[in-house]
Amino acid sequence: MTEKFIPYYLPDITEAEIKEVVDTLESGWLAKGPKTIEFEEKFAEYVGAKYAVAMNSCTAALHIALIAAGVGPGDEVITTSMTFAASVNTILHVGATPVFVDIDPETGLIDANKIEEKVNANTKAIVPVHYAGQACDLDKIYEIANKHGLFVSEDAAHAIYTEYKGNRIGHKPQGAVSYSFYATKNLATGEGGMLVTDSKEIADRARVLITHGMSKNAWNRYGKGGSWMYDIEEPGYKYNMFDLQAALGLVQLDRLNIMQNKREKLVKTYIEELSQIKGLELQRVNSHTTKHAWHLLIVRVTNEFSLTRDQLIEYLAEHKIGTSVHFIPVHMMTAYSSYKNNVELNNTESWFNEILSLPLYSTLNSVDVKRVVDTIKVAADIKMRV
Ligand SMILES: Cc1ncc(COP(=O)(O)O)c(C=O)c1O
Repeated sequence: MTEKFIPYYLPDITEAEIKEVVDTLESGWLAKGPKTIEFEEKFAEYVGAKYAVAMNSCTAALHIALIAAGVGPGDEVITTSMTFAASVNTILHVGATPVFVDIDPETGLIDANKIEEKVNANTKAIVPVHYAGQACDLDKIYEIANKHGLFVSEDAAHAIYTEYKGNRIGHKPQGAVSYSFYATKNLATGEGGMLVTDSKEIADRARVLITHGMSKNAWNRYGKGGSWMYDIEEPGYKYNMFDLQAALGLVQLDRLNIMQNKREKLVKTYIEELSQIKGLELQRVNSHTTKHAWHLLIVRVTNEFSLTRDQLIEYLAEHKIGTSVHFIPVHMMTAYSSYKNNVELNNTESWFNEILSLPLYSTLNSVDVKRVVDTIKVAADIKMRV
C-alpha cells in the first residue's frame, strides 16, 4: 500500500468561509470596506484591546508599530534571533539597529532576564516574539520597559488564542501587538495581519500610514456620500487589508475555538507519545502561559536520540511526512550577520541545531498523528548518528 503524504501544513477552509468570500465578491465592494471594519471591531473585542487596525501582513503591522512609536535611525531595538526575518527586517526598515538577546534553552523564548543588560541610552524599544504560540514573560519585559521608558511592540504572529496569566495576548496592551493571518497561521486569511493597541494616537497614525498617508476615511471616497477630496498627511505605505481577506478572517475568528480544540487534542497525543521517546524533548510550557496557541509543535532532537535532527527530517520525508524548522536564527543569515556584535547567542544556536516542527493543523487527523509518532518510534531504534 502506498502511504499518502502528510504535509507539514494544510489550511482549514469550510463552506462557511467560501460562502462569506462569495457574498463579499457579490457585494460589489472588493477593497477595504465594511468587512474589514467589522473584522477590526470583532478582533479588538476578541483580544480585549481598544483599537485594531487590519493590514495586509504582520510584517506591515510590526513596521507601522515602530514608526508610530517614533523609533528611527540611531535607535536600538532589543529582540530575539529565534524568529522569522520579518521581526528584524522591520527594525532595519525604520533605520534602527537590532540587538539580539539569547533565548531560554527550554522554551525558545527570549530570555527576559538577559534583556536589561542590553539596555543603553540608544535603546528605544523591545520586540518580544511569542514564539510557537507561547507567551513571553510579559511582566518582566514591561517592568524593564517602564523602568527605562521603552516601547514594546509584541510580535504575536503565532499567538492568536495564547493567554498570559489568564488574559489573551493583546488584552489591554501597553504598547502595540501584531498578529499574522498568513496561510499557515492558526487564523488564516492567505496574507493578512492586525495591529492592536490601547493608544488612540498609535491607532490613528497607523490608519493614516497604511493608506499612503491619506487623511482619515479616504477609503470611503468612492462610497455613497464620499468625497473626491483627500490630503496626504505624510508619505505612507500601501499596507491595508481588503474585504476579501476580512471575509475569511471573520469566519475564521468565529471558528477559532473549534479549530484550537482540534489542535489541542492532537498536541495531547503528540506530547503523550513523544515524551516517552529517549532523546526527544518538547518545548517546555511556562506556568505563565495559561493557554498555548500551539501554532508550532516543536521537538528537540538531542544527542541522546538515535538520529541527528537532519537525519530525522530526511527519514520522515522518506516516509512521506513533511516537517519544517522554525527558525534558522536571523543572525546566522547573510543580511544580518553584522548585527551579532559579539553577543553570546549559544542557546539560540543550540536550539536551532536540534529543532524540527511536526505537522500540526486543525484538519490533521489522529490517525495521521499516530503515523507520525510511530514513524519517529521506528527511527528511534535505528543506529545512524555518526
Ligand atoms: C514570528 C513571526 N513574525 C512575523 C511574521 C510575519 O508575518 P506575515 O507573513 O503576516 O508578515 C512571521 C511569519 O511567519 C513570523 O513567524
